[in-house]
Amino acid sequence: MPRLTIVIASTRPGRAGLAMGEWFAARARAHGAFSVAVVDLARLDLPLLDEPRHPRLRQYTHGHTKEWSATAGASDAFVFVTPEYNTGYPATLKNAIDYLHHEWLYKPVGFVSYGGVAAGTRAVQQLKQVVTTLRMYPIVDTVAVPFFQQFIDDEGRVQANDVMEQAAVAMLDELARVEAVTRALRVEIAQPA
Ligand SMILES: Cc1cc2nc3c(=O)[nH]c(=O)nc-3n(C[C@H](O)[C@H](O)[C@H](O)COP(=O)(O)O)c2cc1C
Repeated sequence: MPRLTIVIASTRPGRAGLAMGEWFAARARAHGAFSVAVVDLARLDLPLLDEPRHPRLRQYTHGHTKEWSATAGASDAFVFVTPEYNTGYPATLKNAIDYLHHEWLYKPVGFVSYGGVAAGTRAVQQLKQVVTTLRMYPIVDTVAVPFFQQFIDDEGRVQANDVMEQAAVAMLDELARVEAVTRALRVEIAQPA
């Protein structure tokens, strides 16, 4: 089974991102196309990029980079769970992306975004520009949650509506399709002729 890694981008105390990430992880497990892992950037706790060499060279010097590289490298697909900060995506996610290079290549990525009226979509638009530089395949079907507070209950859990549930399935279906057809590209770079 291909491995899907869900990355929770926000790290603030009291963040909504954890609830959003946990909700989506449960949906991804129920979907059944992937084995699912969750990386919470608050727990990963990467410092601001502190590697001396470009990640293309893979000459990582720090344990935290090697650990992140192993996790991302073992993944076949990603979902980034992101808020919108000042109409962009959080610096924590950019930092985590910039640490690596080969680990992202030719892998599909979906987005769960949340915010006010724009539902985090401006953050996703920015992310698409960055992930395509890394030859990732952004999935068109997204889960975009407007006025997200209405979907978080008193216990801090997401109570999704039908639109969110259907969007999650559509995204996971498409992620599985794109993961399958891009596998050959990843095998090619792993075993160059
Ligand atoms: C620094 C900062 C900037 C924000 N900018 C936006 C924004 O541009 N658009 C938006 O919809 N919400 C914005 N918000 C509100 C967030 O949607 C809300 O705080 C949300 O809880 C952030 O996700 P998090 O709790 O996972 O950190 C901003 C929040 C913060 C802390």
